[in-house]
Amino acid sequence: MAEKMGNLKRSMYCGEIREENINEEVTLMGWVAKERNLGSIIFVDLRDRAGIAQIVFDDTVDKDLFNKATKLRSEFVIAIKGIIRQRSSINDKIPTGKVEILANDLKILNESEVPPIYIKDDDNVSETMRLKNRPLDLRKPFMQNNLMMRSKFYKVTRDFFANEGFIEVETPMLTKPTPEGARDYLVPSRVNDGQFYALPQSPQLLKQLLMVSGLDRYFQITKCFRDEDLRANRQPEFTQIDLEMSFVEIDDVISINEKFLKYAFKEMVDVDIELPIKRMKYKEAMDRFGVDKPDLRFDLELQDISSIVKNCGFKVFENATEEGYSVRGINIKSGADFYSRKAIGKLEDFVKDYGAHGLAWIKLVDGEINSPIAKFLDEKVLDDIIKTMNAEDKDLLVFVADKNKVVYDSLGNLRNKVAKDMELIKKGDYKLVWITEFPLFEYDEEDERYVAKHHPFTSPMDEDLDIVLTEPQNARAKAYDIVINGDEMGGGSIRINDREIQKTMFKALGFTEEEAQNKFGFLLEAFKYGAPPHGGLAYGLDRLIMLFTDSDNIRDVIAFPKTQSATCLLTGAPTRLTEEQLEEVHIKVIEK
Ligand code: AMO
Ligand code: AMP
Repeated sequence: MAEKMGNLKRSMYCGEIREENINEEVTLMGWVAKERNLGSIIFVDLRDRAGIAQIVFDDTVDKDLFNKATKLRSEFVIAIKGIIRQRSSINDKIPTGKVEILANDLKILNESEVPPIYIKDDDNVSETMRLKNRPLDLRKPFMQNNLMMRSKFYKVTRDFFANEGFIEVETPMLTKPTPEGARDYLVPSRVNDGQFYALPQSPQLLKQLLMVSGLDRYFQITKCFRDEDLRANRQPEFTQIDLEMSFVEIDDVISINEKFLKYAFKEMVDVDIELPIKRMKYKEAMDRFGVDKPDLRFDLELQDISSIVKNCGFKVFENATEEGYSVRGINIKSGADFYSRKAIGKLEDFVKDYGAHGLAWIKLVDGEINSPIAKFLDEKVLDDIIKTMNAEDKDLLVFVADKNKVVYDSLGNLRNKVAKDMELIKKGDYKLVWITEFPLFEYDEEDERYVAKHHPFTSPMDEDLDIVLTEPQNARAKAYDIVINGDEMGGGSIRINDREIQKTMFKALGFTEEEAQNKFGFLLEAFKYGAPPHGGLAYGLDRLIMLFTDSDNIRDVIAFPKTQSATCLLTGAPTRLTEEQLEEVHIKVIEK
């Protein structure tokens, strides 16, 4: 039966007791993490969000209390009072490990059934079990730490931006579709028959309107919703630190955000970020790393050998260059011993997932060449390849010949895999880079038309204004991403505030005047009355917390996350509605 706390008032957290508190009487409350009954003495590890304290019940000191303590089991909620004393056997692993508390009072505030999961960091239980039992899972010390880091980061963010004169404004959750390119989550309207709200994919258009309103500097920590394919660092519902500034160009936005990142890294992980942060043009990133979010913690750069293998005799390479495709490779330093023939087969399967047709390779072993394609290549070509790739003894060279997109995709991702396999990444290393000069458009193969790579309000680079319509494939945007350790942590752009340029942009995207009005009429209307030059950026807050807590799973930094199939295992969302509920919002479900 549950006892009342009575006159007991907690005096400190379990995790806070230290040697300087010896001889003090304290009252602690928390959960029983572990109990060991040694016959005449019982040790209890008592846990709260701050840590663990060792409590001692001694049969020779207080028999009744000892007898009561024999009832304690894991996850019982208790209050204890007692005197802090030195421990006889010190535990260096925890901050409270030098002291313990000799109990003189105990209240059992609630009992617990045997919990379905162990409350410890490395419990090895399936993620499904963890998510189903989330309230218990969140008792684990590492999950509590992640949530506390997250909470601290809200404060760090608000402190910084408030100090810099940014105004926090909430934008609505029930809104119109926003142009971020994912599918919308839709909400039916009861009072407006047959009409729907969209949950925001980002506050993009509204923050631009706040600039028209003259707020000058806006920020918000806000939820965004995107119905898209989920991966390790994506959630359907995630959090952005969103900001927008007036009367700025690229360097102004970058500069304030560098200041923010420096402050955030110092506060969150006590790391000094060197400013200015390196900048790299999109094209250079693709050529050297195959991706627009390069991980700069290791080398393994891509090398273009197309011109060397033009007439090399190996059909796969020759055909690719004839088609205007490219042949590129990576020198996996000291990879010859690390990757056996069979292991290279696995690398080949890996690149095939990205559309590659194969993975050609050359090993240099004791001055000899070991390669299935060597027989097709003459000595001069082999020599040139080896020189270009700076290959030495024990290196493994791998190549993909294909369309540029496939070559980049497969080698860019292979690069990350190899770095993981060979453990080339140092823990605690942070490599930041701004990626700039993104293409303005992306070609949509399915729809056979150009779409905006960021969104239709991103400004073209001044130098490229003339080619937006004539050479859309070459037009670059005033857009920038901040990439940290190979992940896109944030992105933004300078926006279009000139109506003529906006018209050109819509034309390039194939929007008719009417379509543009339908989708963004409210923005275009407001822009008639003096839209200042403006630009901004949004960070993925969850991803930054992953970085600060060294988590590789986004669900470990969100209290109540969704699964890969966008369900919540705890609450059972989404659920079916009753006929009455559906009728009320004017919806009929089509059963598949
Ligand atoms: P963007 O679409 O690049 O830009 O989003 C900004 C950042 O949000 C994070 N992010 C996500 N995090 C978790 N789960 C997701 N599904 C997810 N999608 C995006 C990424 C990304 O860098 N309105 C523009 C910003 C601007 O132009 O100012 C925008 O939303 O870290
Ligand atoms: P094949 O002549 O198809 O047996 O291929 C010989 C070698 O070239 C094998 O190791 C294949 O993995 C590799 N290969 C085949 N197609 C490609 C390609 N498009 N790019 C790189 N290597 C390839």
